[in-house]
Order: sequence, then C-alpha cells, then structure tokens
Amino acid sequence: MLKACPDYLSGQMLCDYFQVSRTAVWKVMNQLKSEGYHIEAAPNRGYRLIQDTDIFQEEELQRAVRGKWAGCKVIYKKTTGSTNLDAAAMAGELPHGAVIVADEQTAGRGRRGRSWVSEAEGNIYFSLLLKPDFLPERASMVTLVMALAVAEAIENVTKLSAGIKWPNDIVIGGKKVCGILTELRAEPDLIHHIVIGVGINAHQKNFSEEALAYATSIDLETGGFLNRTELITEVWARFEALYDEFERTLDLGALREDYNVRLVSLGQEVRILDPKGEYTAVSGGIDEKGRLQVTKEDGSRESIFAGEVSVRGIYGYV
Ligand code: BTN
Repeated sequence: MLKACPDYLSGQMLCDYFQVSRTAVWKVMNQLKSEGYHIEAAPNRGYRLIQDTDIFQEEELQRAVRGKWAGCKVIYKKTTGSTNLDAAAMAGELPHGAVIVADEQTAGRGRRGRSWVSEAEGNIYFSLLLKPDFLPERASMVTLVMALAVAEAIENVTKLSAGIKWPNDIVIGGKKVCGILTELRAEPDLIHHIVIGVGINAHQKNFSEEALAYATSIDLETGGFLNRTELITEVWARFEALYDEFERTLDLGALREDYNVRLVSLGQEVRILDPKGEYTAVSGGIDEKGRLQVTKEDGSRESIFAGEVSVRGIYGYV
C-alpha cells in the first residue's frame, strides 16, 4: 500500500484495513525501516514511503520479475562464496531459469581461473541456471546472448550506451562495467546444466588506481543512483526474450546483427593472443556461431573461438 500511495497513509486507516493495533503497524514500519526502506512518519498524517532507496532482497526481486521463466525462482543471499557455485550445487532442486543473487561474494570467480572481487559495495552478482536440451558445443553461445541482454538492459534502464568487448565484457565509455562467466556440467553429448554468472559494477565508487584505468560502474557513469532491482530484472527479461530467439535456431543468426552493432572492436585493429603465436588483425563481427571474424595483415581471414584466444585492443582495454 505504501508503494502504491505517493502521499501519507494514515496509521488509523492501516489499523482498520488490516484489523491490527497501532502498535502492530508501528512494529511493521520499524521492520521495513530495518530492511532499508526509507519511511517517513508524521504526526496526524501517518506514514509515507520515500522511493529513493535501492532495496535489494528476495521479495522485491521476485515481485519485479516480468518474464515467464527467467527469474521464475529467486534466491537471495546477503553474502556467499560464489553464486555460480551455489547455482551448480543446487541445480538438482532448482528449475530452468532460477537465479541466485548476492550482495557480496567472498570467493567470486572470474574467467580463466581469475577471481572476481565482489565486496559488498552495492554491486550486482547473480547466476542464472539453465537446463537446456541442446548439445554442449552450443553452450558457449549463451554467454553472448547474456552479454547482449546485459548491454540492452543497461541501455534501457540508464540510457547510457553500452558496448560489448567480444565475447562477453560489457563496456561503457571504453571501460568494463560487467563480466560474465559461464560454467557447465555436461557429458560429451548431454548438458546437465549451464550456470551463467554475471557481475555488474553498480554503486561501486572506489576502484584501485590500476582498475580505474579499465573499470567503471553504472553510478560513476550516470552520476546518479541505480535501482539494482530494476536493472537486474530488466536483464532477466531481455535474456528471456533473446534466449527464446536463440533457441529457435540454436545459433546466433537472429541476434548477431544486434550484437555486432555493439561490438566495440568492430572495424578496429586488435591484437589476437593466440597461444600458437600473437598477431594483429582487423576485427569484423561475429558469425552465427559467435566466432569473431578477423582479417589478418596479409588479407587472410580467421574465425576465432572464445576460450581459445584472447583479444586485446591496440590502444587500451577495448
Ligand atoms: C569475468 O572474469 O569477467 C567474469 C566475472 C563473472 C563474475 C560473476 S559475479 C556472479 C557470478 N559468481 C561468480 O563467482 N562469478 C560470476
């Protein structure tokens, strides 16, 4: 009721409506305040919810989910080791589309065995569980689907323009704002589950000097204060829509144009860190399998699989 009402709600009216005492209403207001809601109480007028806070908890998230399956079950943890590990451990009991969200991770996992610093600084850490029935060789493409979903969601919610550094870093103004780590449990011809882990720098303002050169957060870029629930549920909604398209053909044919428009390296020189030998090439877009098409200095073309090689910008992070 407080959410729906821009003005004060009288204490007496709440007592009558819920058939409870004044003390009971007062206790509930205190409970909400302790959960982080900003509630103003004024004598003779009642209670009013000031909608300027970023409440990040299970009921708020579940209530804000708009899709059919992505976010069908939300598990929120104030702190955990890694939401990716939690999702994998609980995969047997959870449905396709379940998400685990945390405010802090003590053992956040990054790509290529790196760690993902996940302090409780108001960032977003979540893992989405998928139980698809396609072959494992298709799994890497869902990471690109998520990258596109995150970029679109950031743009829809904040109006910032968000690019993608292939395969799956989200970039604003040349700096990384989000990383994605996809992990799966599979047999050669069968996927048990896929976990897509997403870390978005949301409210973080303090970065080490080294990190500031290539990392940023949504708040630093907007100069405002992000509502994390709004962004995270928009990511799930965009992912659901894009994944449903991906599932029709099990490739990125329908999404590659939208992805390529956001590709920060498109038409630029990049350095390909191939274990068989580094080289410089011009980045084209991705193909329908998610491979990056590059043209080498001698004019020959290569299709690069994520996971095999890294791509670096010539003049910095992107
Ligand atoms: C990267 O290295 O760019 C990927 C980072 C992925 C971090 C996210 S945060 C939520 C999920 N849980 C983890 O332990 N890692 C992913």
